[in-house]
Amino acid sequence: MTTHANPHGEPGSNTDASVPVGGAVGRPVDRRDGHAKVTGTALFSAEHRYPNLTYATMVHATIARGTITGIDTAAAAAVPGVLAVLTHLNAPRIRPVRKANIIRDLGPSISGTAVDYLNTDQVFWDGQPIAVVIAENSAAANEAAPLVTMTYREVPARVDFAVEQKNATVAKGDLTFAGVAKKGDADAALATAEVSVDLHYTTPGLQHNAIEPHATTATWDGDHLTVHDTTQSTDQTHKYLAWRFGVPASHVRVRAEFVGGAFGGKFAVWPGTVIAAMAAKAVGRPVRLALSRKAVSWSAGGRTASSNRIALCATRDGQLTALIQDSITRTGSVGGLLEATSSPARHLYGADNMLTRQNLAEMDLLPNTSLRAPGEAIGSFVLESAMDELAYELAMDPIALRMRNEPKTDPTGGKKFSQRMLREAFQTGAERFGWANRDPRPRSMRDGEWLVGMGTAAAYHPAVRLTADVKVRLSDDGTALVQCSFHEMGMGAATVQAQITADALGIGYEKVRVEYGDTALPPGPMAGNSNQTATVATSVLAACAELTRKVTALARRTGTTGQEPATTLRAAHIPFLEASVGSTTRLGALRSQGRFLTTFLKDQRWSKAARGAQFCEIRVNADTGELRISRWLGMFDVGHVINPKTAASQLRGSIVMGIGMALSEQTLIDPRNGRTMSAGLDSYYLPVHADIPPIDVAWLNEPDKTMPLGIIGLGEVGVTGVAAAIANAVFHATGRRVRDLPISLDKTL
Ligand code: MOS
Repeated sequence: MTTHANPHGEPGSNTDASVPVGGAVGRPVDRRDGHAKVTGTALFSAEHRYPNLTYATMVHATIARGTITGIDTAAAAAVPGVLAVLTHLNAPRIRPVRKANIIRDLGPSISGTAVDYLNTDQVFWDGQPIAVVIAENSAAANEAAPLVTMTYREVPARVDFAVEQKNATVAKGDLTFAGVAKKGDADAALATAEVSVDLHYTTPGLQHNAIEPHATTATWDGDHLTVHDTTQSTDQTHKYLAWRFGVPASHVRVRAEFVGGAFGGKFAVWPGTVIAAMAAKAVGRPVRLALSRKAVSWSAGGRTASSNRIALCATRDGQLTALIQDSITRTGSVGGLLEATSSPARHLYGADNMLTRQNLAEMDLLPNTSLRAPGEAIGSFVLESAMDELAYELAMDPIALRMRNEPKTDPTGGKKFSQRMLREAFQTGAERFGWANRDPRPRSMRDGEWLVGMGTAAAYHPAVRLTADVKVRLSDDGTALVQCSFHEMGMGAATVQAQITADALGIGYEKVRVEYGDTALPPGPMAGNSNQTATVATSVLAACAELTRKVTALARRTGTTGQEPATTLRAAHIPFLEASVGSTTRLGALRSQGRFLTTFLKDQRWSKAARGAQFCEIRVNADTGELRISRWLGMFDVGHVINPKTAASQLRGSIVMGIGMALSEQTLIDPRNGRTMSAGLDSYYLPVHADIPPIDVAWLNEPDKTMPLGIIGLGEVGVTGVAAAIANAVFHATGRRVRDLPISLDKTL
């Protein structure tokens, strides 16, 4: 077995022109969108220009729950340049959110909330947009928005998680994630366990802070709507907008060629997108609505806070006998995601008795949504911290404890693993990191005033495939064009699909062009759940196989077998050949949905996931509690890697996000009134460059035989296990167990 590493960027590791035909997959080619981004020619959603463009700023509610009883827009309307102030009294009407239907389509299910924005006098959270000012320029809109005054009739609101978690109830769950998973009798096993730990961990809410804040530029032409939107889900956004504005889906075009990071925050449709389209309709001109950082915090959901009890039982020699996890997360009356915090506990380690339960507390806050490995980021902190605590109880090496409990089949449900190399990830990782140099006794390693600690944790994120329509065109000049409305949010999506296409067609990498991020193209999947590369590859490979069959037949007829495809096309006097997967006719759309369900069900036969082993070394100042991370290694089992450069960046970026979650990020909500006190970046602490050590990432590069080209998604697995590895290292360094994130310095002293 070989491991593949790609440390620190490798400038100049390739020039695209030197990629040999048939050898694009597996090469660290540069990102195709890189040049446009660093030279500023890439246009983001808030940068598209239209003649007569207007600018909008939203007004946000200042109560958590109640009714708007009075509105005064006179002062705002009097600001020079203001064109309109829309409230529920005068805004265009929209249709209520439609229920999702998995057979037909999931478009409506991506509603961030079910609120009828500016169509209702009801306020459901502090920060809900309740008016919008449209002006000739952004300065006028920004000046006028705070001048809109509202009076309310307030009612008591449920805004304090510490209080509301007492009223949590067991979640129903959905198709892919049950509210409760159990086997055996975990409570009985706990009562008679030889060794056990019974612990409580909490994590705070987190906010989205992609480098590009949410923004929409919307324009109507009759009853045709075009929006440039910061979305990671063009197809569903366009269906959603079509429904809400009561126009055929074919009349709505959603464009998102460039998105500056999304991380789950741009998966659902949030109020800004809908309100921009309403505003454009109202003023009969194009509207740009670019959210401030604070407006993002108020109107685009983030991660729920969580409260988790976990109990682990084992025999003295370290065999797990029972695992219990009870998690409480929040939801809202107008939306919210079931954050699958017990997902790692259900799938990582074998135990005869298991009971995992997801409980939901309904609250009057901006509905929570997906954020950076939803479920697994929290769940891996809980499980992997508890495993470390159990290892100390047993006086066992934490890696040995994990290896002792490697299951043969999935611990919940018993499915076969399509691929599982967690053991290899820990073994090779431990060697590479120098784990053997660790003295396991807490507070035993010291460097002057710095207490040194080493921690480890498993990483886990499920692998899924959705569906994508694609069209591939092969031309007689030797070029190919791939069309699919997938998303390039900075991860190298177009680059890897070009690599895959080039090899599948047997043409040069630089001959392949890829068009994406536009619903005028064949619909692609949402870019979430780390599905996109495998999903699009499935369809790209199918289309390329069809093209290859056609070219082979043509070559036989024209006597050009063995020559380049373009030679064959020219010999046959055919300017181009096309192959498509899916079509957008009514029937075609149904078939695509059928294809999705078939693949989805087929994939369900296996337990599929990306996994890995995180290792870190930290230093805690014995006098001040200051915590510095000095070394990091992530060793991953992520299937076959298409592009080592973009893969390494994805994994590193994810580890940075995990560090933020572990050390500094937290949404602060005023428990008296439900106001987000950490709105914006001035009061929400993201890691900065100086907080991040060199991050070594490597992977085993073993293809998952049940996935196209052996690909397992790797967008999110890097976040998982990070917080636990740090907390475990903190315990090793200081003897202090931190069970409540973030690990601020007061907790390490
Ligand atoms: Mo991800 S949180 O599924 O963008």
